[in-house]
Amino acid sequence: MNDLDILKASLKGETLEKAIIKYNAGTPAAYILGKWEFMGDTYEITRDVLIPRLDTERLVEKLVAILPKNGSFIDIGTGSGCVSISTLKRRPDVIGFAVDVSKKALEVAIRNADSNGVADRLTFFTCDVLKFAPELGDRFDVVVSNPPYIPSLSVDRLDISVRKEPRIALDGGEDGLDFYRAIFPACNKILYPGGKYLFEIGFDQKDAIEALARKYGAGSEFYKDYSGNWRVALLIPDLKQ
Ligand SMILES: C[S@@+](CC[C@H](N)C(=O)[O-])C[C@H]1O[C@@H](n2cnc3c(N)ncnc32)[C@H](O)[C@@H]1O
Repeated sequence: MNDLDILKASLKGETLEKAIIKYNAGTPAAYILGKWEFMGDTYEITRDVLIPRLDTERLVEKLVAILPKNGSFIDIGTGSGCVSISTLKRRPDVIGFAVDVSKKALEVAIRNADSNGVADRLTFFTCDVLKFAPELGDRFDVVVSNPPYIPSLSVDRLDISVRKEPRIALDGGEDGLDFYRAIFPACNKILYPGGKYLFEIGFDQKDAIEALARKYGAGSEFYKDYSGNWRVALLIPDLKQ
């Protein structure tokens, strides 16, 4: 089903007519409905959060697969909470920490954790990761992030419906790589020895992320999305602590 079909299946009569007018003016269906599906689960979606993308399911699948038994992760830039929450639903043995610079996004994520039944295993913190790495007095097995990764100038050329999403969820700085540089390896001190970074990356960012890993002597592996693009990076730092 495309987004218009989803609107038609969810709304009726005058409400649907008004919704179609908004949709045709560029408002994403998820913002009109106030909810969206990700990995078969329903998430509350407001204009303060990025709309969960199908591609991000690859990140979750990989996270679910690499977390050790009774392990833990920290999700940087959690937005709606979709990465953390869908992982916790599939791994009842693990716990998660979720951070975002946006307090309003965190409010949405907290409600989503509650409605999806994982609130008891997910802790939320406000943190600007461009200024400092989260300091929680805790360590994690995986730092996971789907950060903003679109180059600043490209954000202005995105489709009008994507530009309705929060700019802070999209804009990754001049070359789109600001967040990877900030998070890696600054978060090494909150990883257990043997810990890993798992990033969603832009379709053309594999070489740059590989070079970032090499610069710090880290190993890297990449995984493709459903369209055959390299969209998930696993970085394994050399943590001799
Ligand atoms: C691409 S969105 C990802 C949202 C969600 N994880 C997902 O996959 O749908 C990036 C998220 O990073 C957050 N963010 C932006 N700048 C940040 C910063 N300086 N520190 C922490 N989080 C930030 C945004 O608010 C947004 O929620």
